[in-house]
Amino acid sequence: SRTQVAIIGGGPAGLLLSRLLHLDGIDNVVLERRSRGHVLGRIRAGVLERGTTDMLRQAGVAQRMEAEGELHDGVELAFGGARHRLDLARLTGAHVTVYGQTEMTKDLYAALDAAGAPVLHEVEDVALHGIDSTGPHVTWRRGDEVHRLDCAFIAGCDGFHGISRQTMPGDVLRTYEKVYPFGWLGVLARTPPVNDELIYANHAEGFALCSMRSRVLSRYYIQVPITDRVQDWPDERFWAALRARLPAETAARLVTGPSIEKSIAPLRSFVAEPLSHGRLFIAGDAGHIVPPTGAKGLNLAASDIHFLHRGLARFFASDDESGLKDYSAKALARIWKAERFSWHMTTLMHRFPESSGFDQRLQRAELDYIFSSEAAMTALAENYVGLPYE
Ligand code: FAD
Ligand code: DHB
Repeated sequence: SRTQVAIIGGGPAGLLLSRLLHLDGIDNVVLERRSRGHVLGRIRAGVLERGTTDMLRQAGVAQRMEAEGELHDGVELAFGGARHRLDLARLTGAHVTVYGQTEMTKDLYAALDAAGAPVLHEVEDVALHGIDSTGPHVTWRRGDEVHRLDCAFIAGCDGFHGISRQTMPGDVLRTYEKVYPFGWLGVLARTPPVNDELIYANHAEGFALCSMRSRVLSRYYIQVPITDRVQDWPDERFWAALRARLPAETAARLVTGPSIEKSIAPLRSFVAEPLSHGRLFIAGDAGHIVPPTGAKGLNLAASDIHFLHRGLARFFASDDESGLKDYSAKALARIWKAERFSWHMTTLMHRFPESSGFDQRLQRAELDYIFSSEAAMTALAENYVGLPYE
């Protein structure tokens, strides 16, 4: 069979691209390795930048987000036992929206289903062919059957462990990476969030984050050694560690309950360059990873799709390749700024195993400085709410 764009991966990046292309009348097929239930069961990001919510509106899938998502005008950083509020709205005129990645994914699936758009699940052994030619194709297996899809372009939206990036020639692709010596243990609990706004806490025992999905659903994270496993952290131990890392007044208000999801994510910074080769374009986690401090991963996937969708739309509307030629450079310029911010927030807020007293005093001085300087608060706030797309 044949389509215009073959999209590898049915996460947020792939689904958003598929939806935007369908609205333009551009034929495409999404190929996803896992079942829909598996994709929707992964608890991941929760904070959306304005650029991301604008994209969801453009895609016509923002209705539920507008009804159920929560606008946040500020965020808190806690250190030295005290809380400090960053007034995002006053400093930047913008806010962020708390709405789970799983909800966004659900909304995209619903819109694609309603339009009869093809999303194929549980496809195995996806392989990309002829990306250097003008007639690439994709093959995959489902049970004993091998399938082939011819296309004009391939969008590699298959995440960090996907096949698309690995299909780029080794002499073309350069990668840049930093691995951090700790992970985040995340817990989802059906309890009211401890605070109306998010709290990022720097503490001698390690970083902690208080987030939420709704008024009745809390999402908490704590920094743990990279060697720890989920089994090492029964609920009681998790709640005690979280409580110890929060300012006393906050800890006193913490409502605990049984965890309904618990997982450990490693922290990594990673960028692949370039993001395109021939007829292949990679977007989202397939091309880059940020550590979660700063909530940029999902938002970068959305901004990549903004640039890639524009390039493809121009090509199919008027044979103009300029947007596709520009894609990698445009996307990377924004990606590197989010890499810098995520690295900085990670460095500022975590306890590194090898950190000296000097390093810890520097962290403390920087946090003190930020909250004593309008300029420094503004710099942090404008990155947190999301830098412009151009
Ligand atoms: P993905 O969501 O990874 O989607 C890629 C899809 O491709 C997957 O569905 C996968 O099954 C599919 N796929 C993979 N290989 C193949 C193949 N060979 N063939 C076909 N399909 C394939 N960001 C935040 O901002 N805050 C967070 O708290 C946060 N927590 C995270 C926790 C974890 C464990 C992880 C892994 C990421 C987290 N992120 C977080 C990052 C954020 O979730 C990602 O940046 C976002 O999911 C990127 O979307 P994507 O569509 O590019 O990739
Ligand atoms: C969440 C995750 C983040 O990485 C972050 O910076 C803020 C919130 C969350 O899952 O709610």
